[in-house]
Amino acid sequence: MMNMQLVYLNGEFLAPDQAKVSVFDRGFVFGDGIYEVIPVFGGRLFRLPHHLARLEASLAAIRMRNPYSVAEWDAIFTRLLRANGTADQSIYLQITRGVAPRDHAFPPNATPTVFAYAQPLKYPPAEQLAEGVAAITAEDIRWRRCDIKAIALLANALLRQQAIDQGAVEAILVRDGFVTEGAASNIFIVRGGRLITPPKGPFILPGVTRDLVVEIARAHKIDCDELPVSADMLRAADEVWLTSSTKEILPITRLDGRPVGGGKPGPWHARLFALYKEYKQAFIAGQAN
Ligand code: PDD
Repeated sequence: MMNMQLVYLNGEFLAPDQAKVSVFDRGFVFGDGIYEVIPVFGGRLFRLPHHLARLEASLAAIRMRNPYSVAEWDAIFTRLLRANGTADQSIYLQITRGVAPRDHAFPPNATPTVFAYAQPLKYPPAEQLAEGVAAITAEDIRWRRCDIKAIALLANALLRQQAIDQGAVEAILVRDGFVTEGAASNIFIVRGGRLITPPKGPFILPGVTRDLVVEIARAHKIDCDELPVSADMLRAADEVWLTSSTKEILPITRLDGRPVGGGKPGPWHARLFALYKEYKQAFIAGQAN
């Protein structure tokens, strides 16, 4: 059914159609859980400490303990990856509050449900990198804790589908006149040779790729600010990019049907993406983490 040989569920490695979760799981009933997506390049988990730190933060925010040590997570990931070949992959993992009779209040002693799998990473098609992609802007209708990587993604799914329905690949979300992030990505703009990305806080997910782009820019003395980006600044930007673990750094060249800047991926994207790929190569070669 799916392109994977084994999934991990609560201590077992199973064929996907053998892995079963109770209908009373709080993830199913309430969306009560959190997740992570970790890219795997050249067989190595990219920015693993950053993803595990964010996992820890998401768990703490929903008042759960991490069920496993780093070594235990590592053993699970290694086994999933070994079962799935050598191509670049992404690991998905989710932890829910477990199975309990339906009641909003936390169950006193439920065991968390832990699910993970690896799948080949689907990079954006070459043509999207060459031409850029279309995005729409949409009102950010989500809650006020978007810093938690919560599995409850109904608003994100509605917003992404709104973009797809309009022939775009992403919705750039605007709250009170300011850009927060994409439906499943972070946003950068370039203006006058400066990169700007919205600051972290409760309204955005602290993206691991976002942080890496900021880090790489600063390491190369490229101006990069974490500052509020108004919807007007977004529209007037020379370049707009989205970032995520699976899409890396993707130029947005049409916004609400109008061209961004010159309507083509810009020179700053080319520069940052080259630096990012260099970093990634160094990581694959074991020279960066
Ligand atoms: N999504 N913001 C949101 C709302 C996201 O869902 C994601 C990633 C990001 C980018 O974070 P990172 O660079 O750490 O991947 C920002 C993942 C890929 C997903 O849900 O599939």
